[in-house]
Amino acid sequence: MLVIDSLQKRYPNSDVALKGVSLELRAGEVVGLIGPSGAGKSTLIRCVNRLVTPTAGRIALDGVDLAHVSGRGLRRARRQIGMIFQEYALVERLTVMENLLSGRLGYTGFWKSWARRFDGNDIARAFELLDRVGLAGMENKRADALSGGQRQRVGIARALMQQPRLLLVDEPTASLDPKTSRQVMRLIMELCAERGLAAIVNIHDVVLATQYLPRIVGLKSGEIVYDGPASGMDAVVLTRIYGDEDWSAITRNMQTNAAQDGALEDEVVESPLQQERASGTAALLALDSGHLSAGNTKPLMAAQVVTP
Ligand SMILES: Nc1ncnc2c1ncn2[C@@H]1O[C@H](COP(=O)(O)OP(=O)(O)OP(=O)(O)O)[C@@H](O)[C@H]1O
Ligand SMILES: [Mg+2]
Repeated sequence: MLVIDSLQKRYPNSDVALKGVSLELRAGEVVGLIGPSGAGKSTLIRCVNRLVTPTAGRIALDGVDLAHVSGRGLRRARRQIGMIFQEYALVERLTVMENLLSGRLGYTGFWKSWARRFDGNDIARAFELLDRVGLAGMENKRADALSGGQRQRVGIARALMQQPRLLLVDEPTASLDPKTSRQVMRLIMELCAERGLAAIVNIHDVVLATQYLPRIVGLKSGEIVYDGPASGMDAVVLTRIYGDEDWSAITRNMQTNAAQDGALEDEVVESPLQQERASGTAALLALDSGHLSAGNTKPLMAAQVVTP
């Protein structure tokens, strides 16, 4: 459904961010995009929804060339695409419901949405999505009163309001604690599976990426240097993407997660909201006792037991 062919992007100040990237996604396929800072991950995602105009190449979404479409054609194509961002991009002073309904801007028309007159079907869909992402009853809360995990759930629900076929996700967990990050990744994967959505998920955490994303694309200096199954991510591939490093701790973590996957899923018994509260408190407790460090999630799990 998405075919990216020989995509190039050179920014006006002469930075070449993408040097001929080719990538195909089938309907419902979810891909993790990894690579060092500056590799071009965000540029690739922004080219697909045309926040950035490519210098050369083709991006076909269900046959429509996004690299060259403009005006009404571009607006129509963008309705097929939902965006989820690291910093959530919510309107802080608006309520959760208002933020969700703003996800329908492409359909509602600017003045109608400005006057906040929304279609009854949109409101019904917003309630259904809030329920699905674990935020039932929070529709009147202001965005600036929410935790990071709750904000990202609003961001996810808003991206789904226009019923897209493709999700573009730029570092969805970079501002979240380890447990909330896993919940958010799991939620995104479940929603993609339920709704048959394809997705490109740009993510820095390699262990998290390989745990949840079946296919990984590794970008380095604007070129794809790996495109294959998550299980193929070994020290050789990591070195190809990121350069020389002792990768043994990372690859050990990936193997442990792969082995424990079923057990980890079973651990979730609370409602998403309870989990969120627990993880927030757990993160504080872990921070208090000086245990919070990358990849060290054990104290978080232990601390969770004593939360209300
Ligand atoms: N608006 C811009 N103008 C000029 N150069 C840019 C612009 N945006 C990105 N670049 C350059 O393009 C290259 C790729 O940047 P990009 O933001 O796509 O990388 P990234 O892989 O998303 O990095 P990060 O992991 O740090 O988010 C970098 O060299 C960056 O400096
Ligand atoms: Mg980026």
